[in-house]
Amino acid sequence: MTARLALVSAFQSRQAALGLPVFSDHSPVAPKSQPEWVSRLRGKIQQTFPKWTHLRDQYRWERRWLNAEFNPFWKTDQPQKEIVGAVESGWFPTNQRVIDLGCGSGEMCRWLADQGFAALGLDYSAAAIARAYRLSAGCPNPPTFEVVDLCRKDLRLEPAFSLLDRGCFHRIVKNLRPTFARNIAQATVDGGHFLLMTGTFQDPRVVNHRAIPSEQRLREHVEEIFGNHFIIERAQTTFLNAREGQKSMPALAFWMVRKCKVTTSG
Ligand SMILES: C[S@@+](CC[C@H](N)C(=O)[O-])C[C@H]1O[C@@H](n2cnc3c(N)ncnc32)[C@H](O)[C@@H]1O
Repeated sequence: MTARLALVSAFQSRQAALGLPVFSDHSPVAPKSQPEWVSRLRGKIQQTFPKWTHLRDQYRWERRWLNAEFNPFWKTDQPQKEIVGAVESGWFPTNQRVIDLGCGSGEMCRWLADQGFAALGLDYSAAAIARAYRLSAGCPNPPTFEVVDLCRKDLRLEPAFSLLDRGCFHRIVKNLRPTFARNIAQATVDGGHFLLMTGTFQDPRVVNHRAIPSEQRLREHVEEIFGNHFIIERAQTTFLNAREGQKSMPALAFWMVRKCKVTTSG
């Protein structure tokens, strides 16, 4: 509770210092869709105030993860089939560390740890990481977790061979995505593997889903953002797993291989 109040107060002071309105929380339940002009305005705000939008998003995630009732459709113990495939085919070799980017409460990390991996989960929500540690207590091969903002400019992570992102990249403010990609690239060894699973948001449960670019545009966007650092081996339409009885979210999965660092600018 103290951590939560400290975060809220830090956020509010920052907003006041910037002369910007203080956002209140929003419900963990997917909100209803809004008219197109609202979506355009939101896009403009995000573009004009990327850092502020980033802070607001972090604040919202913290609020969600502090809420014991937070149970969105994508929060499931069932591993995403692409992750299972990466493990079974050896694309994620068991003898290599794996990093889960934006791990939330750590379901994928626990599953990977059960398969014998040394798994590290990263998330910028301290409440998510605390929850991930709580839920991992008693695991025979417990994963480790760290509070890390993947959009931090000066971020330096111990590089790993295998990285995955299920639902984090698609939440990153557009202007900060190149920084996010640079950080992921820095955290991947040469020739290492990065599995990205990103929602297309073509779903009526999502605000402004009608304003979301097409699947083709999303493929191009991922190439633009990650192409300097990674070769995209393949991309495939998929669905983000959902809890039983819940509708899953259409998504794209990208299998990427880290380019040799000496040949890239990043
Ligand atoms: C949709 S959830 C997915 C959680 C988890 N990957 C899963 O599949 O269950 C997105 C997660 O990304 C985290 N996140 C968003 N932006 C982040 C950032 N810049 N740095 C670290 N974590 C971030 C959020 O806190 C949230 O836990």
